[in-house]
Amino acid sequence: MKSEIKTPLIRADRISKVYRSKGIEYTAIKSISLIIGRGEFVTLLGASGSGKTTLLDLFGTLDSPTSGRILIEGTDVSALNDSQLSKLRNEKIGFVFQSYNLVPYLSALENVILPLIVGNRNDPKNLDFAKRLLGEVGLGDKMQKKPTELSGGEQQRVAIVRALVNRPSILLADEPTGNLDSKTSVEVLGLLARISKENNTTILMATHDPDLTALSDRSVHIKDGLIEREARYAKRNKV
Ligand SMILES: Nc1ncnc2c1ncn2[C@@H]1O[C@H](COP(=O)(O)OP(=O)(O)O)[C@@H](O)[C@H]1O
Ligand SMILES: [Mg+2]
Repeated sequence: MKSEIKTPLIRADRISKVYRSKGIEYTAIKSISLIIGRGEFVTLLGASGSGKTTLLDLFGTLDSPTSGRILIEGTDVSALNDSQLSKLRNEKIGFVFQSYNLVPYLSALENVILPLIVGNRNDPKNLDFAKRLLGEVGLGDKMQKKPTELSGGEQQRVAIVRALVNRPSILLADEPTGNLDSKTSVEVLGLLARISKENNTTILMATHDPDLTALSDRSVHIKDGLIEREARYAKRNKV
């Protein structure tokens, strides 16, 4: 059993997030401190409205905390300007959402290589990597299909590959199985667990479903913007 985190990849020090709209304030994250290690697969578990998406947005640098600080690979992200943040997101962070967010008129392969194009890395070596990843998730013969020609589970696998194509150190997944049936959910979870183990990719997955913690290293339970408790699992059951 891991007793401590060897290499902190994400570190949050007493972060809070207050939303303000039309003169009304709402504190979505009250005070959260958390350290996540390289290669760890962490499930963020909490009811709807508990603050999971807000926390993922903060870790993904899509939004900034109202107080406290976030370090990614030792860098205080509040010190970075917009272009440095975009670079950090493109190079180090992959995002997966409940809705797959694939571009409907592009093929699976074209969707997957979009981040390569954005990052100016669409060279033959990386294109081969994209194809290999699609093959590894069982979509080798479906690379030319459009999203509408794929099942929900297949679309989510395309979205996961798209998130991995720049070899990020962090994958943030927000209710990634929310639109999938239970059998397909287990397959997608297994894929995430395999990715974290084989590529040493840190995965932070938000879910409201306690059954989905089974393959992770640790679950962090959040309630009303606070960490309620944590559970660490000695080893992954069935990767
Ligand atoms: N942009 C926003 N403006 C105001 N309140 C928000 C905003 N986004 C989220 N909230 C509120 O913050 C709380 C946490 O939301 P969220 O992080 O989406 O929770 P979860 O993902 O766990 O369902 C909820 O009460 C939600 O209504
Ligand atoms: Mg949410």
